[in-house]
Amino acid sequence: MAAAAIDRICAGIADDGCAVTADFLPQATLAALADEARARHAAGEFHAAGIGRGAAHAQRSDIRGDRILWLDQNAGSVEKPLWQALDALRLALNESLLLGLFSFEAHYALYPPGAFYRRHRDQFRADAASSDVRVISCAMYLNQDWTVADGGALRIYDDERVRDVLPAAGTLVCFLSDRFEHEVLPAARERLAVTGWFRRRA
Ligand code: OGA
Ligand code: MN
Repeated sequence: MAAAAIDRICAGIADDGCAVTADFLPQATLAALADEARARHAAGEFHAAGIGRGAAHAQRSDIRGDRILWLDQNAGSVEKPLWQALDALRLALNESLLLGLFSFEAHYALYPPGAFYRRHRDQFRADAASSDVRVISCAMYLNQDWTVADGGALRIYDDERVRDVLPAAGTLVCFLSDRFEHEVLPAARERLAVTGWFRRRA
């Protein structure tokens, strides 16, 4: 990823706690990731996403209707450019904002037409005392030719405003996990993303 794009993301996080970048990865890489996700979905490797942790974990399609596949950073070559770009971003965030991010976890997420994810937060402040927390949430989209009419925006709630991000191929959105409630609006088309979190050790 271009150094200028990394600088813009770091500045966006520092100023607003949120940053949206277009063209995060080359189109050929995005297309390969989308093909890989669809092939593995067709092979039955995805499962219904859940909510809550531990004993509270539950599948609630009235809250969240996506299907996910967790990614292994040591397997698969298709995702390599993604891990490299995200690692460069992680190091830049640590250098400019002293966030102490040490790892990244991510999954593919496929929303069938009509699926949504109700308003939620990815990390609550109460979790912040635990040893390993989500600090920055990221979503990178894989959908070619997405238009406003397709729906499926990521809606981010800020104090005085609402920000809608279209899930168009190459768009990367990053935001502070404990700060912004957000939701995925239903889409008329299948909606594909890589969703991930930079984590910090206490
Ligand atoms: C999530 C989420 C946003 C998106 O998976 O927690 O909020 O745009 N995803 O896919
Ligand atoms: Mn979320």
